Amino acid sequence: MKWIGGKRQLLGHLIPTFTEAQVGASYHEPFVGGGAVFFALRAQGRATCARLSDVNQELIGGYLAIRDGVDDVISHLRIHASLNDKEYYYRIRSQHPRSAPEAAARLIYLNKTCFNGLYRVNNSGVFNAPYGRHKNPTICDETNLRAVSAALATSSLEVASFETVLDHVHCNDVVYFDPPYIPVSVTASFTEYSAGGFGNCEQQRLADVFRELNKRGAQLVLSNSDTDEVRRLYSGFRIDQVFARRNVNTRADRRGPVAEVIVRNF
Ligand SMILES: C[S@@+](CC[C@H](N)C(=O)[O-])C[C@H]1O[C@@H](n2cnc3c(N)ncnc32)[C@H](O)[C@@H]1O
Repeated sequence: MKWIGGKRQLLGHLIPTFTEAQVGASYHEPFVGGGAVFFALRAQGRATCARLSDVNQELIGGYLAIRDGVDDVISHLRIHASLNDKEYYYRIRSQHPRSAPEAAARLIYLNKTCFNGLYRVNNSGVFNAPYGRHKNPTICDETNLRAVSAALATSSLEVASFETVLDHVHCNDVVYFDPPYIPVSVTASFTEYSAGGFGNCEQQRLADVFRELNKRGAQLVLSNSDTDEVRRLYSGFRIDQVFARRNVNTRADRRGPVAEVIVRNF
């Protein structure tokens, strides 16, 4: 799925970083979102024992449904694909799914057909993106769904806030943190992932968790925007600057390469 802050763009920098980590340990991704890094690692036969989590209940429910019942998800998606138009989109958007596979299919369908492919909820946590005029959206990519299901087969998935890594991560485990970014300017806000947001307190708590797991001997990688605040929070660790094109800004003139950082403790 296309996800706000998705890391597909940075895989060229991120995957070689993980290659330098020792293998054999468990992999943890507490802000999994669209899971670009996890799926790229799985495609290379790594991250076989993974714990993936995110506060977004619909997203984790979707992964669980794909992992445990991909055929049912595909059946529902085939129906969406055959009926897709603007009117049908708004009907599905307003519906409350009655089962986990139906909810997963609804999430994927809305993600593939909504404006900008942006997952966006209002203050009550309701998905509210308008219909997007995609020419030929791939709504039911059966091969990909089956590959996702297979990749997730040996992973545990949880709706949980990032602090729960403290209960699970051991020495040598690999952890990738990809939190909602600290905004580079007052107008840029990448923090509207879920009702509640992710502000300065959460960024500070995350840096504390990073330092705690560092003491434990875990192998840690984190991405964030390149700001003074991020460099202050992670001072003492290796910080590499990278550039990514971000297309999620609704104003075309604000899209373009932005400086981000990859922080690591090895
Ligand atoms: C930058 S996105 C991750 C993108 C992901 N790496 C990808 O490739 O698509 C950040 C994610 O953090 C999740 N999130 C926000 N607050 C959180 C929290 N307190 N604990 C765990 N996850 C949280 C959001 O739901 C969102 O999926």
